[in-house]
Amino acid sequence: MEITLTSPLDMHLHVRDGEMLKLVAPLSARDFAGAVIMPNLVPPVTDDQALQAYTKRVLEASCSEHFAPLMTLFFRNYTEAELLAALSIPGFFGIKLYPAGVTTNSDSGVSSWQMAEPTLRCMEALGIPLLVHGESHGFVMDREEQFLPIYRHLAEQFPKLSICMEHITTVAALHLLDEYENLCATITLHHLEFTLDDLLGGAMKPHLFCKPVAKRSEDREALLHAALSGHPRVMFGSDSAPHPLHKKECCGCAAGVFSAPVALPALAKIFAEHGAADKLQAFVSGNACHRYNLTPPLKKVTLRDTAMQVPVIYRGYGQSVVPLHTEEQLPWSVCAVQE
Ligand code: NCD
Ligand code: ZN
Repeated sequence: MEITLTSPLDMHLHVRDGEMLKLVAPLSARDFAGAVIMPNLVPPVTDDQALQAYTKRVLEASCSEHFAPLMTLFFRNYTEAELLAALSIPGFFGIKLYPAGVTTNSDSGVSSWQMAEPTLRCMEALGIPLLVHGESHGFVMDREEQFLPIYRHLAEQFPKLSICMEHITTVAALHLLDEYENLCATITLHHLEFTLDDLLGGAMKPHLFCKPVAKRSEDREALLHAALSGHPRVMFGSDSAPHPLHKKECCGCAAGVFSAPVALPALAKIFAEHGAADKLQAFVSGNACHRYNLTPPLKKVTLRDTAMQVPVIYRGYGQSVVPLHTEEQLPWSVCAVQE
């Protein structure tokens, strides 16, 4: 059996910088026609110069002319002039908002919603998408649900602002999504595959630890249903977030799952097993293109039900990073890419 995808997109991707960028960017650029690149570098990407320079580094590292990085700024209070300057930069896509301190490199995120309003108003007027890491500082399993009233407030206060609920993990988030047309959502591969039990119900698996943490099986089932049924406002966003081996296999493990190199084969497995192979195109490209009016580079990626042996580790440029499904054999693989 084969599935051919047209211009697959990863709508939430961390490629980092420096040597790690060189190691991981080509892995996404090989399988995807484009990806929304997260801005939580150290320091975060918060002005047009940094954005332009980072875009150049991502393009260089991706080693492909058929991969479009969709670049984001890290949310702070921007003036209209700054937003207009960002809009004039080729590849600029949107602004990623992190509540202060909720995840990796988010210390300078938002701590006052009121102060953020003028920038949000301006983004709404200029048609700049807002992407949100929606977690509170509460109990780890409740953080997403506790954030939902803020999504509701944003959706109501800014009805023309396109708001993406990033990496949703709960039934409750899906219910809210259905209430407001100006909300959309990304769903990761790992939240379609795993629950909290897989992370720490048996031996603790640091490579499955990410934020938001995987939730209950009923949450996973609901996410699967949304993806497999072709829900028009859910999009694939891997949230592939590489951390060096020594930052994962240690006391104080960093949050992030490195899924980019296995994303499409693992998604093909899930969709084929559920008899929904015909819905994969919408999930990995069609819904995002429609939502954001995107025309990514043309790239045909063919997946086949022949095994992929997942490497134990990806090494290069002095970096070592362990992929999701390390050492496993996946029943699907990418067999051809036509550009
Ligand atoms: C991400 C990272 O490592 O940058 N980590 C994660 O667990 N997902 C940040 C994020 O998206 O929360
Ligand atoms: Zn992320």
